[in-house]
Amino acid sequence: MTIHQASARAHTNIALIKYWGKKDQQLILPMNGSLSLTLDHFYTDTTVVFDSSLKADQFWLDDQRQSATKISRFLDLVRQRSEQKTFAKVKSYNHVPNAAGLASSASAFAALALAASQAAGLNLSRQALSRLARRGSGSATRSIYGGFAEWLPGTTDKDSYAIPLQEKVDWDIEMIAVIINRQQKKISSRQGMERVVETSPYYPAWVKSTQADLLKAKKAIQAHDLILLGELAESNALRMHALNLSARPPFSYFEPQSLVAMRLVEKLRTRGICCYYTLDAGPNVKVLCAHKDSQIIKETLQSVFAPDQLIEAFPGPGVQLINEK
Ligand code: DP6
Repeated sequence: MTIHQASARAHTNIALIKYWGKKDQQLILPMNGSLSLTLDHFYTDTTVVFDSSLKADQFWLDDQRQSATKISRFLDLVRQRSEQKTFAKVKSYNHVPNAAGLASSASAFAALALAASQAAGLNLSRQALSRLARRGSGSATRSIYGGFAEWLPGTTDKDSYAIPLQEKVDWDIEMIAVIINRQQKKISSRQGMERVVETSPYYPAWVKSTQADLLKAKKAIQAHDLILLGELAESNALRMHALNLSARPPFSYFEPQSLVAMRLVEKLRTRGICCYYTLDAGPNVKVLCAHKDSQIIKETLQSVFAPDQLIEAFPGPGVQLINEK
């Protein structure tokens, strides 16, 4: 019996310029580039054990046995590359305060990419890891890096990966997550974006305007310009959600409470406080702001939301190996 194991930790990321649509479903190649901030507060720890005595892959999430189908498909890529057929036991723990419903496929597949490739004896570069993580879930491509990362869309498996834009974020920026619903989303990102690409008449305009947003957002990051970055992120998120309303059949991830949070952020801005919102494929609202303003923003949000619905997160690190448990 031979056993090879490794453990890795990856943090989730929130896209400021979004990925919403694929040009290749199988390879997970996106229609446009995207840009995200990796967060310190939400992460996944994953241990992969290749064990020659196993008859199939096994998967546990937070100590509960799960179907291993998706994980197996991903491990097949690692097995192909390392020219072996051994099955693996995968154990993951999502570290998300208060089970906030923010656990994401981004941290999951970034952690799995590093743990599985190391356990299989592959010593992949971060670029190769980013490409591998992409095959599990598009947003995982960016979670290989800390801080701000850009996913270059590419045209083939080889040239679609993330690059670090600013791994150490040395200026004042944070996100306050407003937890509105801890339930699993009804329409997955995968289904949602596919429907939009197929049916929204606005899709070509999304791709074009997102490419322009991305260039401006990179400049804003370089210039540490939170106002410009926030304006771009908020408008890009609204355009993504507008695509969903324009699909057939239409759908939306917004809930009444999402709109309440969005209005509160807008109201804070009229009082001169710099804060902007973004939402992914779910109702939770993430507020981009500076730490110096976070107290007043939280106080305002607390006029409606309970303190445990508000979680502050700061720029976080890239994927790393951790001590095996
Ligand atoms: C709205 O990465 O979850 O968060 O590639 O199909 O697994 P798949 O989708 P996923 O989509 C993320 C969409 C988003 C925007 C983003 O993270 O860029």
